[in-house]
Amino acid sequence: MKKIAVCGKGGVGKTTVTSLLAYCLAEQGREVYAIDADVNPTLAEALGFPPELVAEIRPIADMTALVEERTKAKIGEYGSYFKTNPTVKDLPEKLSRKIKNINFLMMGAMRTAEQGCACAENAMLKALVTHLILKEKETVILDMVAGTEHMGRGTAKGVDLMVLVVEPGSRSVKAARDIDRMAGEMGVKRRVLIGNKIRSPEDEEFLKRELGEGAFAGFLPAHDDVVSAERRGLALYEYSPPMRELIRAMWGAVCAGREAAACTAQIF
Ligand SMILES: Nc1ncnc2c1ncn2[C@@H]1O[C@H](COP(=O)(O)OP(=O)(O)OP(=O)(O)O)[C@@H](O)[C@H]1O
Ligand SMILES: [Mg+2]
Repeated sequence: MKKIAVCGKGGVGKTTVTSLLAYCLAEQGREVYAIDADVNPTLAEALGFPPELVAEIRPIADMTALVEERTKAKIGEYGSYFKTNPTVKDLPEKLSRKIKNINFLMMGAMRTAEQGCACAENAMLKALVTHLILKEKETVILDMVAGTEHMGRGTAKGVDLMVLVVEPGSRSVKAARDIDRMAGEMGVKRRVLIGNKIRSPEDEEFLKRELGEGAFAGFLPAHDDVVSAERRGLALYEYSPPMRELIRAMWGAVCAGREAAACTAQIF
């Protein structure tokens, strides 16, 4: 699995799960490109990157000249024609920064309404995901914008695995169903669920009942380590042995093609 998108309703834990998976994959010797595709970027913090290094990264949205050159768009002009298939082969090197064994890229903050739509930037991101030819040991993992809206833009079209994060609530279940359906329609063949913020066996049961046990790679507990790591600016994967073990177990199961809830949240 070379291209992975992590999706779900707002606040369910997409960024947390992306950070865990990025470390897990890098540990296995893969060359990881972690892309923060959210317009409100937080993945760098979740990966525990030093703020001074993150500050040096130029987000795609800020690289107006590059986006204009590649998409032939005039940034900020509504309805202007732009190439939906820009050249992106060299972009990972141009836009990423390697920090702690992970190559990091970000989409960047969305421009304000007056500045026009972000179609050109989105075209870049989409092209990056769709046309990037990855070498054998390379993986791209995308921390997506919350909800379903980005699905309409098709950013995740070229991914070979979609990880849907859900928490035990009906709203996040509904969002997961919608995203899953749209992902299926756009041809994303493999979708797996991760139940997050599990507080009790009932939470897990609820999710299995609503979404089907077989679709879950596993479950992560609501755990103080998540908040502590965040507060300390540390990577959860490095900070928390239990969360590390759980994500490793889940990833192992996903790679072996047998999700069916590889692990429970182990908190009870
Ligand atoms: N398993 C967990 N246990 C405790 N807190 C958690 C857990 N997972 C996530 N959180 C907390 O929930 C909040 C949202 O998590 P996160 O930022 O990963 O979600 P998100 O889906 O990326 O949110 P957004 O939609 O805003 O991008 C954070 O404050 C995080 O610390
Ligand atoms: Mg997030």
